[in-house]
Amino acid sequence: MNLHQLQENFESLAAEDPLWTVLSDDAKRGGKWDLEEFYATGRAVIDDLESRLDKLGKPLGGGAAIDFGCGVGRLTFPLSQRFQTCYGIDISRSMVEFASNQKERGPNCTFIENTTTRLHRLENASIDLIYSAIVFQHIAPRYTREYLKEFSRLLKPGGLLVFQLPSHLDPDYPENQKPFRLLKKRLFYQLKVLKQRMAKILPFIRSESFFEMNAIHRDRLVPFLYKQCGLEVLDQQDFPAAGLAWKSYLYVTQRES
Ligand SMILES: C[S@@+](CC[C@H](N)C(=O)[O-])C[C@H]1O[C@@H](n2cnc3c(N)ncnc32)[C@H](O)[C@@H]1O
Repeated sequence: MNLHQLQENFESLAAEDPLWTVLSDDAKRGGKWDLEEFYATGRAVIDDLESRLDKLGKPLGGGAAIDFGCGVGRLTFPLSQRFQTCYGIDISRSMVEFASNQKERGPNCTFIENTTTRLHRLENASIDLIYSAIVFQHIAPRYTREYLKEFSRLLKPGGLLVFQLPSHLDPDYPENQKPFRLLKKRLFYQLKVLKQRMAKILPFIRSESFFEMNAIHRDRLVPFLYKQCGLEVLDQQDFPAAGLAWKSYLYVTQRES
């Protein structure tokens, strides 16, 4: 899916049910998330990030942070309590508007709609920490690689990029033992995108938004981060945010000094 299609998908998912689009628990679909319960889940994620970084001797905090793919600001607001400034960046205007309307949760947050792989508004070497969870799994790898290079431009020397990304389908997961599983998934996504395109010209076809799943194998990602982005991987831990079918990791990386 290209970035324009990705934006359209998230825009229509967000217009329908923004909180469920962020945390897709079946029991909460159709506006069933309680707002306070929803935002409390974000505080737990950032507490967990803080303790992971403490173990690496890298305290969470400083001048400026980015929450990339911020959605409604679930992680941006608790992150902003540890930084002077915090930017929430998202491809969906509805998400950015929703987050901006919750700004009393984090007065030092700025929410930005961004639809390209360049973050023009932000200066070179200006950011201490970039965090991203449950985002790159929905972005095609060719764009993810561009974002990672862009993050390297934005980070101060010694700054941290912490992100979650699936690596591969878990071979122990029963569904994955069916032959051609990944190939079938790819074909399914291509048919869905085709249906969306057809729906634009043929009104009797109903277009449905969906979450495309993507991965970059960890064995290829780690050398890419080092050689192409100047980012050293300090830690890589299981982080099952993509569901049980995927082996997914949280990478803690540091910009060369
Ligand atoms: C599942 S939600 C997760 C939101 C947030 N990270 C959280 O955990 O609360 C994924 C978010 O990523 C955003 N997103 C997807 N592709 C993006 C891109 N290329 N650039 C910026 N945001 C993107 C979507 O609009 C959506 O808000």
